[in-house]
Amino acid sequence: MILDKFSLKGKAGIVTGASRGIGKGIAEGLAQAGANLAICSRGLPALQKTAEELRRYGTDVIAINADVSVKAEVENLVNRTLERFGRIDFLFNNAGITHRAPSEDFPEGWWDEVIRVNLKSVFLCSQAVARVMIKQGGGKIINTSSLIAVTGGKSIPAYAASKGGVAQLTKALANDWAKYRINVNAIGPGYIITDLTAPLIEDKQRYQELSARIPMGRWGKPDDLAGAAVFLASQASDYVTGQTIFVDGGWLSA
Ligand SMILES: NC(=O)c1ccc[n+]([C@@H]2O[C@H](COP(=O)([O-])OP(=O)(O)OC[C@H]3O[C@@H](n4cnc5c(N)ncnc54)[C@H](OP(=O)(O)O)[C@@H]3O)[C@@H](O)[C@H]2O)c1
Repeated sequence: MILDKFSLKGKAGIVTGASRGIGKGIAEGLAQAGANLAICSRGLPALQKTAEELRRYGTDVIAINADVSVKAEVENLVNRTLERFGRIDFLFNNAGITHRAPSEDFPEGWWDEVIRVNLKSVFLCSQAVARVMIKQGGGKIINTSSLIAVTGGKSIPAYAASKGGVAQLTKALANDWAKYRINVNAIGPGYIITDLTAPLIEDKQRYQELSARIPMGRWGKPDDLAGAAVFLASQASDYVTGQTIFVDGGWLSA
């Protein structure tokens, strides 16, 4: 039956950057759908607190301290997930950061950091997990892109480049790994209320400008992403690959 195809009961996967914000919202949806989860971030106390909250949905959740832009830490994340669950059915590459400054003043160090955390990490995590998925006969990889992959934004040159890169990498990996029954897709959030967008929300004028442009008339919340996340992690999306699903309140259509 169709609703059974959305169930993640008995499945296990990784969500990166899940201590707060969109990653936490996605992890809540995946846990409610029945998935066992390994969640990661750099700050362990907040991550452990989130893991505890997620366990209330009745599945097994482990908190693993990892910087996803460091290969050895990614390998540890993957190995510990395998030790605990014996398989990895899905990987959610969600961890991300931004820095804001006019492009003419944007520091090189910020450029390198944003590209490393937002783009290189997606490749490192996907490659490590795909090697497991190839052996086990398939899986789902879901990346977090952004509407900024399409629009470019303002004063976020490295972020825009990283998210455009994630959208292209999603297609490249989808092409390479379709033969292994690995689906690679992305979610493209619009403007979502999290720590990452706090500076935009605090800037009253910018907040008004952005809010007025959203057809649905409101910013998104982290749990607005959960439905698309469950779809892309589940059997319901078996014939979908290389796509970005935008969850943006209509921004890109306006
Ligand atoms: N908010 C939006 O409007 C929006 C829109 C489009 C796309 N996105 C994307 O959605 C994703 C989540 O963003 P968010 O708004 O939820 O941000 P957030 O609230 O700042 O959360 C970011 C998460 O990523 C973790 N993280 C950051 N760097 C990491 C690293 N190197 N290794 C492991 N974990 C790391 C953070 O924990 P630690 O700091 O403790 O590591 C935190 O759990 C990002 O990829 C972002 O680009 C956000």
